[in-house]
Amino acid sequence: MLELRDVRKGYAGGRQVLSGLSYALAAGEYVAVMGESGVGKSTLLNLIAGLDVPDSGEIRIDGIAISSLDDDAATRLRRRRLGFVFQAFHVLPHLTLQQNVALPLLLNGVSVKHAEARTQDMLDAVGLHGKARQFPRQLSGGEMQRVAIARALVHRPALLLADEPTGNLDPDTARDILALMRAEIRENGASAMIVTHSRLAAETADRILVLTQAGLHSMEPSSAGGRAHP
Ligand SMILES: Nc1ncnc2c1ncn2[C@@H]1O[C@H](COP(=O)(O)OP(=O)(O)OP(=O)(O)O)[C@@H](O)[C@H]1O
Ligand SMILES: [Mg+2]
Repeated sequence: MLELRDVRKGYAGGRQVLSGLSYALAAGEYVAVMGESGVGKSTLLNLIAGLDVPDSGEIRIDGIAISSLDDDAATRLRRRRLGFVFQAFHVLPHLTLQQNVALPLLLNGVSVKHAEARTQDMLDAVGLHGKARQFPRQLSGGEMQRVAIARALVHRPALLLADEPTGNLDPDTARDILALMRAEIRENGASAMIVTHSRLAAETADRILVLTQAGLHSMEPSSAGGRAHP
């Protein structure tokens, strides 16, 4: 479903962040990515989402190299097939929660009636029942995060990319939200790549990967005691 081939990325004036990363994520696979702060996890998700371009290498989604598409085609692919939860939410301040969450459906041409019903279900599922008409500024950080998660799942994406999706949530809410993401992804036969610093969150995945300067690798079973990552 997702294929990364020798992906390299550095920033102007900075060091090389990703230096030849390769990985294949199968359809239906749900992986967690861990790694030190600054190692390039958000950079990696942004590249996969096509929000930034690699210096070299190739990223394929459903066998299609994103770099081979023009802007419109890339936008359509992203809109239909991907869901993102950004590290900094990216919730639109002038739209209500209902409007924020419904947006991916409306952009995909779903009827207003269907969009409303599905949006309400998602807001209920993330525990924001009754807040549909509020605006983001009226929310706590954790509530904002839950809006972002509802919006990322509402259109049943084939690939969910989530950057620290439970970073602002208390442990009980985090557990509920992780279970919800897992259930949605499984039900839709979709794949997911979840970046997290939390060992508990990572353990909800089929597989834990660690990003280091050497690349993206499965965590060795011998280190599964979780010494490095609280
Ligand atoms: N737009 C940018 N311009 C220049 N440097 C950047 C840019 N974005 C990220 N970097 C640098 O690239 C490196 C990787 O950043 P990135 O945000 O991908 O790390 P991360 O693994 O997500 O970290 P964290 O766990 O703290 O979120 C960092 O050293 C960061 O300072
Ligand atoms: Mg990050």
